[in-house]
Amino acid sequence: MAKGIGVGLREEFIEEREAVLRHVDFLEINQKADVEQTKEELAGFVTEIPIVIHSLNLSLGSITPPPAHRVEALVETVLAVNPSWVSEHLSYSRFDDIEIDNFIALPYTEEAVEVAGANIKRIQERIGRRMAMENITHTFIWPGNQFSEAEFLKKITERADCGLLLDVTNLYLNAKTIGYDPYEFLETLPKDRIMQLHLAGHTEVNGVLYDTHVGGIHPEVLGYAEWVLNNTSCEALVIERDADLIEFHDLLPDLEFCRNLYNKYRKGVHV
Ligand SMILES: [Fe+2]
Ligand SMILES: [Fe+2]
Repeated sequence: MAKGIGVGLREEFIEEREAVLRHVDFLEINQKADVEQTKEELAGFVTEIPIVIHSLNLSLGSITPPPAHRVEALVETVLAVNPSWVSEHLSYSRFDDIEIDNFIALPYTEEAVEVAGANIKRIQERIGRRMAMENITHTFIWPGNQFSEAEFLKKITERADCGLLLDVTNLYLNAKTIGYDPYEFLETLPKDRIMQLHLAGHTEVNGVLYDTHVGGIHPEVLGYAEWVLNNTSCEALVIERDADLIEFHDLLPDLEFCRNLYNKYRKGVHV
């Protein structure tokens, strides 16, 4: 079972397998259409370290269920890597056959709970394990919402009997951009359903905050992670890093911060 500190697997890490296995407790891989490529990338890791899958394109908030080819690719990957769980974004990015390369926030309504909840349930049944739904970044909320974002996340987990992937950087960015109290948000979430955290650095340009997955996790973001470790049973933290990553060792400062924080509240997997 995945627990401790994980990182998102990047191509750059494959050459640095020994260092990855020395510093990291589990790996998160992005679901790819090409399952053979995933198997190749994971060849040196799959028997050594727990894996979780991060899916990007099921668009579980869309009214029509995910296309069969996307579901089949996910099922094939699940069979190949036996992940502890599969996560996906609570959003929509598809209308009929038109897909966009972005996550759009759902309206926080009963209808959206019903639509997304039914889609999540269907996928969970197909892959035979629980999913963790991620809170995305967004710059607006729909008019006519019936719930707050945190209440919506809670209702989804109840409707689908799924878990949460709480991205604490997304929480920080949304709290600032939309303007809400992050700790009130955390208090509203169902504590027993937080399966995993995402942490990443972000970028601010002319007062606008961007989720760039750079190095250097903001202290306030680490504060939310600490709150989760102190108030829930969540045991899995993943550092997301894309923008300024050259080699695995670039991750070590953030890994050390997260490891120290984790070890304050949980028995560390690495000593
Ligand atoms: Fe994500
Ligand atoms: Fe994330």
